[in-house]
Amino acid sequence: MAKDTTIAGRELQPSTLMMGYGYDPVLSEGSLKPPIFLTSTFAFPSAADGKRHFEGITGKRPGGADGLVYSRFNAPNQEILEDRLAIWDGAEEALSFSSGMTAICVLMLTYASLGDVIVHSGPLYAASEGFVAKWLSKFGVTWLDFPAGATREVIEDTLTRAKAQAATNGGKVCMIYLESPANPTNALVDVEAVKAARDAVLGGGAQAAEGGSTNEITTPIAIDNTFLGPLWARPLDQGADIVVYSLTKYVGGHSDLVAGSIAGAKKWMTPVRMLRNTMGGICDPNTAWMLLRSLETVELRMTRAGENAVKICNWLKQHPKVAGLGYLGMIEDARQQDIYDRHCKGAGSTFSLLLKGGEAECFRFLDSLKLAKLAVSLGGTETLASHPASMTHLSVPDSRKAELGISDNLVRISIGIEDADDLIADFAQALEAV
Ligand SMILES: Cc1ncc(COP(=O)(O)O)c(C=O)c1O
Repeated sequence: MAKDTTIAGRELQPSTLMMGYGYDPVLSEGSLKPPIFLTSTFAFPSAADGKRHFEGITGKRPGGADGLVYSRFNAPNQEILEDRLAIWDGAEEALSFSSGMTAICVLMLTYASLGDVIVHSGPLYAASEGFVAKWLSKFGVTWLDFPAGATREVIEDTLTRAKAQAATNGGKVCMIYLESPANPTNALVDVEAVKAARDAVLGGGAQAAEGGSTNEITTPIAIDNTFLGPLWARPLDQGADIVVYSLTKYVGGHSDLVAGSIAGAKKWMTPVRMLRNTMGGICDPNTAWMLLRSLETVELRMTRAGENAVKICNWLKQHPKVAGLGYLGMIEDARQQDIYDRHCKGAGSTFSLLLKGGEAECFRFLDSLKLAKLAVSLGGTETLASHPASMTHLSVPDSRKAELGISDNLVRISIGIEDADDLIADFAQALEAV
Protein backbone atom coordinates (compact mmCIF):
# COMPACT_ATOMS: atom_id res chain seq x y z
CA MET A 1 0.00 0.00 0.00
CA ALA A 2 2.85 2.37 0.85
CA LYS A 3 3.88 2.32 -2.81
CA ASP A 4 0.42 2.50 -4.42
CA THR A 5 0.17 5.41 -6.85
CA THR A 6 -3.56 5.07 -7.59
CA ILE A 7 -6.87 5.33 -5.78
CA ALA A 8 -9.89 3.68 -7.40
CA GLY A 9 -8.13 3.73 -10.76
CA ARG A 10 -7.10 7.38 -10.45
CA GLU A 11 -3.39 8.06 -10.99
CA LEU A 12 -2.30 10.26 -8.07
CA GLN A 13 -0.35 13.47 -8.67
CA PRO A 14 3.24 13.89 -7.40
CA SER A 15 2.14 16.63 -4.96
CA THR A 16 -0.21 14.11 -3.30
CA LEU A 17 2.30 11.28 -3.29
CA MET A 18 4.89 13.43 -1.49
CA MET A 19 2.88 13.07 1.75
CA GLY A 20 3.18 9.32 2.12
CA TYR A 21 4.60 7.40 -0.82
CA GLY A 22 7.13 4.72 0.11
CA TYR A 23 6.59 4.92 3.88
CA ASP A 24 4.36 2.73 6.06
CA PRO A 25 3.86 4.14 9.62
CA VAL A 26 2.97 0.63 10.86
CA LEU A 27 6.63 -0.35 10.42
CA SER A 28 7.77 2.54 12.66
CA GLU A 29 5.56 2.39 15.78
CA GLY A 30 2.83 4.36 13.98
CA SER A 31 5.04 7.42 13.67
CA LEU A 32 3.25 9.57 11.07
CA LYS A 33 6.52 10.88 9.70
CA PRO A 34 9.51 8.62 9.07
CA PRO A 35 11.94 8.59 12.00
CA ILE A 36 15.54 9.48 11.18
CA PHE A 37 17.39 6.17 11.11
CA LEU A 38 20.73 6.98 12.74
CA THR A 39 22.47 3.67 12.25
CA SER A 40 25.50 2.61 10.28
CA THR A 41 24.37 -0.99 9.76
CA PHE A 42 21.27 -3.22 9.69
CA ALA A 43 20.71 -6.59 11.40
CA PHE A 44 19.90 -9.41 8.95
CA PRO A 45 17.00 -11.75 9.76
CA SER A 46 19.23 -14.72 8.83
CA ALA A 47 22.67 -15.46 7.39
CA ALA A 48 21.03 -16.51 4.12
CA ASP A 49 19.35 -13.08 3.89
CA GLY A 50 22.72 -11.42 4.50
CA LYS A 51 24.26 -13.42 1.65
CA ARG A 52 21.37 -12.60 -0.69
CA HIS A 53 21.57 -8.88 0.13
CA PHE A 54 25.30 -8.82 -0.57
CA GLU A 55 24.79 -10.59 -3.90
CA GLY A 56 22.59 -7.61 -4.83
CA ILE A 57 25.01 -5.01 -3.46
CA THR A 58 28.03 -6.41 -5.30
CA GLY A 59 26.20 -6.97 -8.59
CA LYS A 60 26.50 -10.79 -8.48
CA ARG A 61 22.70 -10.84 -8.80
CA PRO A 62 20.92 -8.21 -10.97
CA GLY A 63 18.34 -5.90 -9.42
CA GLY A 64 20.34 -4.49 -6.49
CA ALA A 65 19.86 -5.17 -2.79
CA ASP A 66 16.39 -6.25 -1.73
CA GLY A 67 17.03 -5.40 1.89
CA LEU A 68 18.82 -2.92 4.12
CA VAL A 69 22.51 -3.67 4.56
CA TYR A 70 24.86 -0.81 5.52
CA SER A 71 24.33 2.95 5.39
CA ARG A 72 26.95 3.59 2.71
CA PHE A 73 24.78 1.48 0.36
CA ASN A 74 21.19 2.15 1.39
CA ALA A 75 19.04 3.21 4.36
CA PRO A 76 15.33 3.93 4.99
CA ASN A 77 15.29 7.75 4.80
CA GLN A 78 17.34 7.73 1.60
CA GLU A 79 15.20 5.00 0.02
CA ILE A 80 11.96 6.89 0.71
CA LEU A 81 13.57 10.05 -0.67
CA GLU A 82 14.78 8.26 -3.82
CA ASP A 83 11.34 6.72 -4.41
CA ARG A 84 9.71 10.14 -4.18
CA LEU A 85 12.30 11.90 -6.33
CA ALA A 86 11.80 9.35 -9.12
CA ILE A 87 8.08 10.20 -9.21
CA TRP A 88 8.62 13.83 -10.23
CA ASP A 89 10.70 12.94 -13.27
CA GLY A 90 8.75 9.83 -14.30
CA ALA A 91 11.95 7.82 -13.71
CA GLU A 92 12.29 4.16 -12.82
CA GLU A 93 14.83 4.87 -10.10
CA ALA A 94 16.64 7.74 -8.36
CA LEU A 95 19.87 7.87 -6.37
CA SER A 96 20.62 10.49 -3.72
CA PHE A 97 24.02 12.06 -3.03
CA SER A 98 25.69 14.30 -0.47
CA SER A 99 25.80 17.21 -2.97
CA GLY A 100 24.90 18.03 -6.56
CA MET A 101 28.58 17.87 -7.45
CA THR A 102 28.99 14.43 -5.86
CA ALA A 103 26.09 13.22 -8.02
CA ILE A 104 27.68 14.70 -11.15
CA CYS A 105 31.20 13.40 -10.42
CA VAL A 106 30.06 9.86 -9.56
CA LEU A 107 27.85 9.80 -12.67
CA MET A 108 30.69 10.87 -14.98
CA LEU A 109 33.24 8.55 -13.33
CA THR A 110 30.84 5.65 -13.82
CA TYR A 111 30.59 6.12 -17.58
CA ALA A 112 34.01 7.52 -18.59
CA SER A 113 36.98 5.25 -19.40
CA LEU A 114 40.46 5.89 -20.79
CA GLY A 115 40.27 7.36 -24.31
CA ASP A 116 36.58 8.31 -24.04
CA VAL A 117 35.08 11.65 -25.07
CA ILE A 118 32.34 13.51 -23.17
CA VAL A 119 30.25 15.83 -25.33
CA HIS A 120 28.56 18.59 -23.38
CA SER A 121 26.47 21.70 -23.91
CA GLY A 122 28.11 24.98 -22.96
CA PRO A 123 28.22 26.70 -20.62
CA LEU A 124 27.91 24.30 -17.69
CA TYR A 125 27.98 25.10 -13.99
CA ALA A 126 31.67 25.96 -13.51
CA ALA A 127 32.45 22.99 -11.22
CA SER A 128 30.86 20.53 -13.69
CA GLU A 129 32.86 21.99 -16.54
CA GLY A 130 35.97 21.91 -14.33
CA PHE A 131 35.46 18.27 -13.38
CA VAL A 132 35.44 17.27 -17.05
CA ALA A 133 38.31 19.51 -18.15
CA LYS A 134 40.59 19.35 -15.12
CA TRP A 135 39.99 16.06 -13.31
CA LEU A 136 38.73 13.58 -15.92
CA SER A 137 41.52 14.67 -18.27
CA LYS A 138 43.96 13.12 -15.76
CA PHE A 139 42.49 9.76 -16.73
CA GLY A 140 42.72 10.29 -20.49
CA VAL A 141 39.14 11.50 -20.99
CA THR A 142 38.66 14.41 -23.40
CA TRP A 143 35.66 16.58 -24.23
CA LEU A 144 33.95 18.61 -26.96
CA ASP A 145 31.09 21.04 -26.49
CA PHE A 146 28.34 22.77 -28.45
CA PRO A 147 26.52 25.98 -27.47
CA ALA A 148 23.33 25.51 -25.41
CA GLY A 149 20.94 26.66 -28.16
CA ALA A 150 22.61 24.61 -30.95
CA THR A 151 20.58 23.09 -33.81
CA ARG A 152 20.50 19.36 -34.60
CA GLU A 153 23.02 19.94 -37.43
CA VAL A 154 25.55 21.57 -35.10
CA ILE A 155 25.05 18.84 -32.46
CA GLU A 156 25.47 16.09 -35.11
CA ASP A 157 28.64 17.74 -36.32
CA THR A 158 30.03 17.89 -32.76
CA LEU A 159 29.13 14.22 -32.16
CA THR A 160 30.75 13.17 -35.45
CA ARG A 161 33.97 14.95 -34.48
CA ALA A 162 33.77 13.44 -30.99
CA LYS A 163 33.35 9.96 -32.49
CA ALA A 164 36.49 10.45 -34.61
CA GLN A 165 38.40 11.85 -31.61
CA ALA A 166 37.35 8.85 -29.49
CA ALA A 167 38.38 6.40 -32.23
CA THR A 168 41.82 8.03 -32.39
CA ASN A 169 42.15 7.78 -28.60
CA GLY A 170 40.96 4.18 -28.49
CA GLY A 171 37.73 5.04 -26.69
CA LYS A 172 34.09 5.92 -27.35
CA VAL A 173 31.70 8.86 -26.88
CA CYS A 174 30.72 7.83 -23.35
CA MET A 175 28.19 10.50 -22.41
CA ILE A 176 26.32 13.53 -23.69
CA TYR A 177 26.01 15.89 -20.75
CA LEU A 178 23.61 18.84 -20.88
CA GLU A 179 22.62 21.71 -18.64
CA SER A 180 19.42 23.57 -19.47
CA PRO A 181 18.86 26.39 -18.98
CA ALA A 182 22.53 27.32 -18.88
CA ASN A 183 23.80 29.32 -15.92
CA PRO A 184 23.65 32.39 -15.90
CA THR A 185 22.51 33.05 -19.48
CA ASN A 186 19.28 30.96 -19.29
CA ALA A 187 19.91 29.57 -22.82
CA LEU A 188 17.87 26.36 -23.32
CA VAL A 189 19.17 23.12 -24.85
CA ASP A 190 17.02 21.33 -27.45
CA VAL A 191 16.92 17.86 -25.85
CA GLU A 192 14.80 16.41 -28.69
CA ALA A 193 17.44 17.53 -31.20
CA VAL A 194 20.22 16.07 -29.03
CA LYS A 195 18.43 12.71 -28.91
CA ALA A 196 17.84 12.72 -32.68
CA ALA A 197 21.51 13.59 -33.28
CA ARG A 198 22.73 10.95 -30.79
CA ASP A 199 20.55 8.25 -32.39
CA ALA A 200 21.71 9.24 -35.90
CA VAL A 201 25.44 9.46 -35.15
CA LEU A 202 25.90 6.92 -32.37
CA GLY A 203 23.36 4.24 -33.33
CA GLY A 204 19.95 3.26 -32.05
CA GLY A 205 16.66 4.44 -33.52
CA ALA A 206 17.97 5.33 -36.98
CA GLN A 207 19.42 1.90 -37.69
CA ALA A 208 16.29 0.19 -36.34
CA ALA A 209 14.10 2.27 -38.69
CA GLU A 210 16.31 1.29 -41.62
CA GLY A 211 15.65 -2.38 -40.84
CA GLY A 212 18.97 -2.95 -39.06
CA SER A 213 19.39 -4.34 -35.59
CA THR A 214 18.13 -2.24 -32.70
CA ASN A 215 21.79 -1.52 -31.89
CA GLU A 216 21.38 -0.76 -28.21
CA ILE A 217 22.33 2.76 -27.18
CA THR A 218 25.37 2.88 -24.90
CA THR A 219 25.86 6.66 -24.78
CA PRO A 220 23.42 8.14 -22.25
CA ILE A 221 22.13 11.69 -22.47
CA ALA A 222 22.33 13.20 -18.98
CA ILE A 223 20.89 16.62 -18.16
CA ASP A 224 21.25 18.95 -15.20
CA ASN A 225 17.66 20.07 -14.52
CA THR A 226 18.47 22.07 -11.38
CA PHE A 227 17.09 25.40 -12.66
CA LEU A 228 13.67 24.16 -13.83
CA GLY A 229 13.10 20.88 -12.05
CA PRO A 230 11.18 19.13 -10.90
CA LEU A 231 8.15 21.32 -11.64
CA TRP A 232 8.87 23.31 -14.81
CA ALA A 233 10.71 20.73 -16.95
CA ARG A 234 10.78 16.91 -17.22
CA PRO A 235 13.65 16.21 -19.65
CA LEU A 236 13.15 12.43 -19.62
CA ASP A 237 9.93 13.15 -21.58
CA GLN A 238 12.00 14.77 -24.37
CA GLY A 239 14.41 11.84 -24.66
CA ALA A 240 17.07 12.42 -21.98
CA ASP A 241 18.15 9.23 -20.19
CA ILE A 242 19.40 10.60 -16.89
CA VAL A 243 18.26 13.70 -15.02
CA VAL A 244 20.65 15.37 -12.55
CA TYR A 245 19.85 17.73 -9.66
CA SER A 246 21.52 19.90 -7.15
CA LEU A 247 18.79 19.30 -4.53
CA THR A 248 20.41 22.19 -2.66
CA LYS A 249 18.33 24.53 -4.84
CA TYR A 250 14.54 24.37 -5.50
CA VAL A 251 13.99 20.85 -4.11
CA GLY A 252 15.62 21.56 -0.74
CA GLY A 253 14.25 25.05 -1.17
CA HIS A 254 15.16 26.64 2.17
CA SER A 255 18.90 27.32 1.73
CA ASP A 256 19.60 25.02 4.67
CA LEU A 257 21.06 21.85 3.14
CA VAL A 258 23.38 20.54 0.41
CA ALA A 259 22.43 17.41 -1.58
CA GLY A 260 22.10 16.01 -5.09
CA SER A 261 20.43 13.26 -7.08
CA ILE A 262 20.24 11.52 -10.41
CA ALA A 263 17.28 9.59 -11.85
CA GLY A 264 16.53 7.46 -14.89
CA ALA A 265 15.95 3.90 -16.05
CA LYS A 266 17.41 1.06 -13.93
CA LYS A 267 19.73 0.20 -16.83
CA TRP A 268 21.50 3.58 -16.46
CA MET A 269 21.25 3.79 -12.65
CA THR A 270 22.66 0.35 -11.75
CA PRO A 271 26.31 1.04 -12.68
CA VAL A 272 26.17 4.39 -10.85
CA ARG A 273 24.73 2.68 -7.78
CA MET A 274 27.63 0.19 -7.90
CA LEU A 275 30.20 3.00 -7.90
CA ARG A 276 28.32 4.84 -5.13
CA ASN A 277 28.37 1.61 -3.09
CA THR A 278 32.15 1.58 -3.47
CA MET A 279 32.93 5.29 -3.06
CA GLY A 280 30.17 6.41 -0.74
CA GLY A 281 28.64 9.83 -1.31
CA ILE A 282 25.05 8.84 -0.48
CA CYS A 283 22.99 11.60 1.17
CA ASP A 284 22.99 11.37 5.00
CA PRO A 285 19.75 10.40 6.83
CA ASN A 286 19.17 13.80 8.42
CA THR A 287 19.45 15.61 5.06
CA ALA A 288 17.23 12.95 3.44
CA TRP A 289 14.61 13.63 6.12
CA MET A 290 14.83 17.40 5.52
CA LEU A 291 14.40 16.80 1.79
CA LEU A 292 11.28 14.69 2.43
CA ARG A 293 9.82 17.64 4.34
CA SER A 294 10.83 19.97 1.48
CA LEU A 295 9.23 17.73 -1.15
CA GLU A 296 5.85 18.12 0.55
CA THR A 297 5.83 21.82 -0.40
CA VAL A 298 8.00 21.89 -3.52
CA GLU A 299 5.06 22.44 -5.87
CA LEU A 300 3.61 25.23 -3.68
CA ARG A 301 6.97 26.97 -3.30
CA MET A 302 7.93 26.77 -6.96
CA THR A 303 4.49 27.88 -8.12
CA ARG A 304 4.57 30.93 -5.84
CA ALA A 305 8.16 31.80 -6.81
CA GLY A 306 7.25 31.46 -10.50
CA GLU A 307 4.22 33.74 -10.10
CA ASN A 308 6.33 36.29 -8.22
CA ALA A 309 8.95 36.23 -11.01
CA VAL A 310 6.31 37.01 -13.69
CA LYS A 311 5.10 40.04 -11.76
CA ILE A 312 8.58 41.29 -10.88
CA CYS A 313 10.00 40.84 -14.40
CA ASN A 314 7.04 42.72 -15.88
CA TRP A 315 7.85 45.58 -13.51
CA LEU A 316 11.62 45.48 -14.10
CA LYS A 317 11.20 45.38 -17.89
CA GLN A 318 9.81 48.91 -18.03
CA HIS A 319 12.31 50.46 -15.60
CA PRO A 320 14.52 53.16 -17.21
CA LYS A 321 17.70 51.82 -15.53
CA VAL A 322 17.16 48.29 -16.86
CA ALA A 323 18.85 47.41 -20.17
CA GLY A 324 17.32 43.93 -20.49
CA LEU A 325 16.23 40.70 -18.84
CA GLY A 326 17.35 37.11 -19.41
CA TYR A 327 14.05 35.60 -18.25
CA LEU A 328 12.45 32.54 -19.83
CA GLY A 329 9.05 34.23 -19.70
CA MET A 330 10.33 36.96 -22.06
CA ILE A 331 12.34 35.13 -24.73
CA GLU A 332 13.14 37.25 -27.78
CA ASP A 333 14.77 34.56 -29.96
CA ALA A 334 12.42 32.42 -32.09
CA ARG A 335 14.46 29.23 -31.78
CA GLN A 336 14.75 29.56 -27.98
CA GLN A 337 10.98 30.20 -27.81
CA ASP A 338 10.38 27.04 -29.85
CA ILE A 339 12.53 24.95 -27.44
CA TYR A 340 10.75 26.56 -24.49
CA ASP A 341 7.31 25.70 -25.92
CA ARG A 342 8.30 22.06 -26.50
CA HIS A 343 10.24 21.49 -23.25
CA CYS A 344 9.06 23.75 -20.44
CA LYS A 345 5.96 24.05 -18.29
CA GLY A 346 7.03 27.29 -16.65
CA ALA A 347 9.63 30.04 -16.88
CA GLY A 348 11.14 29.50 -13.44
CA SER A 349 12.14 32.17 -10.97
CA THR A 350 15.88 32.58 -11.70
CA PHE A 351 16.86 35.17 -14.30
CA SER A 352 19.50 37.70 -15.23
CA LEU A 353 18.91 41.41 -14.90
CA LEU A 354 20.99 43.63 -17.19
CA LEU A 355 21.51 47.12 -15.79
CA LYS A 356 22.50 50.19 -17.79
CA GLY A 357 26.18 50.57 -16.83
CA GLY A 358 28.68 48.00 -15.57
CA GLU A 359 30.15 46.50 -12.42
CA ALA A 360 29.91 49.73 -10.37
CA GLU A 361 26.17 50.10 -11.09
CA CYS A 362 25.55 46.42 -10.30
CA PHE A 363 27.47 46.66 -7.02
CA ARG A 364 25.53 49.78 -6.00
CA PHE A 365 22.28 47.96 -6.76
CA LEU A 366 23.34 44.82 -4.82
CA ASP A 367 24.65 46.80 -1.85
CA SER A 368 21.37 48.75 -1.65
CA LEU A 369 19.03 45.74 -1.49
CA LYS A 370 17.24 45.42 1.85
CA LEU A 371 14.99 42.35 1.44
CA ALA A 372 16.82 40.37 -1.22
CA LYS A 373 20.02 38.84 0.12
CA LEU A 374 23.39 39.26 -1.60
CA ALA A 375 24.35 35.58 -1.97
CA VAL A 376 25.03 32.97 -4.63
CA SER A 377 22.75 29.90 -5.00
CA LEU A 378 19.09 29.87 -6.01
CA GLY A 379 15.74 28.21 -5.52
CA GLY A 380 15.29 29.06 -1.83
CA THR A 381 12.29 30.61 -0.13
CA GLU A 382 14.17 33.93 0.06
CA THR A 383 15.19 36.12 -2.87
CA LEU A 384 18.91 36.11 -3.67
CA ALA A 385 20.97 38.33 -5.96
CA SER A 386 24.60 38.09 -7.08
CA HIS A 387 27.06 39.33 -9.73
CA PRO A 388 28.26 36.30 -11.75
CA ALA A 389 31.15 38.07 -13.56
CA SER A 390 32.89 38.87 -10.25
CA MET A 391 31.59 35.96 -8.15
CA THR A 392 30.52 32.52 -9.49
CA HIS A 393 32.24 33.04 -12.85
CA LEU A 394 35.25 35.07 -11.66
CA SER A 395 37.73 32.42 -12.82
CA VAL A 396 36.24 32.26 -16.36
CA PRO A 397 38.60 34.00 -18.86
CA ASP A 398 37.26 37.32 -20.18
CA SER A 399 37.01 36.06 -23.78
CA ARG A 400 34.89 33.07 -22.66
CA LYS A 401 32.75 35.38 -20.49
CA ALA A 402 32.09 37.58 -23.53
CA GLU A 403 31.23 34.53 -25.64
CA LEU A 404 28.77 33.32 -22.98
CA GLY A 405 27.17 36.72 -22.40
CA ILE A 406 28.40 36.99 -18.78
CA SER A 407 28.80 40.74 -18.87
CA ASP A 408 29.78 43.19 -16.13
CA ASN A 409 26.26 44.66 -16.11
CA LEU A 410 24.57 41.32 -15.36
CA VAL A 411 23.00 40.61 -11.96
CA ARG A 412 21.57 37.14 -11.35
CA ILE A 413 18.39 37.02 -9.32
CA SER A 414 16.57 34.06 -7.81
CA ILE A 415 13.09 35.08 -6.71
CA GLY A 416 11.69 33.54 -3.53
CA ILE A 417 8.22 33.27 -2.05
CA GLU A 418 7.99 36.66 -0.32
CA ASP A 419 5.22 39.10 -1.25
CA ALA A 420 5.90 40.20 -4.84
CA ASP A 421 5.02 43.86 -4.18
CA ASP A 422 7.40 43.98 -1.22
CA LEU A 423 10.17 42.70 -3.50
CA ILE A 424 9.26 45.28 -6.15
CA ALA A 425 9.53 48.00 -3.47
CA ASP A 426 13.01 46.68 -2.59
CA PHE A 427 14.16 46.57 -6.22
CA ALA A 428 12.71 50.07 -6.79
CA GLN A 429 14.70 51.62 -3.92
CA ALA A 430 17.87 49.75 -4.93
CA LEU A 431 17.54 50.92 -8.56
CA GLU A 432 16.98 54.43 -7.23
CA ALA A 433 20.40 54.21 -5.55
CA VAL A 434 22.14 53.32 -8.85
C1 LIG B 1 23.14 24.05 -12.27
C2 LIG B 1 23.91 23.52 -11.10
N1 LIG B 1 24.31 22.25 -11.09
C3 LIG B 1 25.01 21.72 -10.06
C4 LIG B 1 25.36 22.49 -8.99
C5 LIG B 1 26.16 21.88 -7.87
O1 LIG B 1 25.34 21.54 -6.80
P1 LIG B 1 25.83 21.48 -5.27
O2 LIG B 1 26.22 22.86 -4.87
O3 LIG B 1 24.62 20.94 -4.56
O4 LIG B 1 26.99 20.54 -5.23
C6 LIG B 1 24.95 23.82 -8.93
C7 LIG B 1 25.31 24.66 -7.75
O5 LIG B 1 25.17 25.85 -7.76
C8 LIG B 1 24.22 24.35 -10.02
O6 LIG B 1 23.83 25.65 -10.04
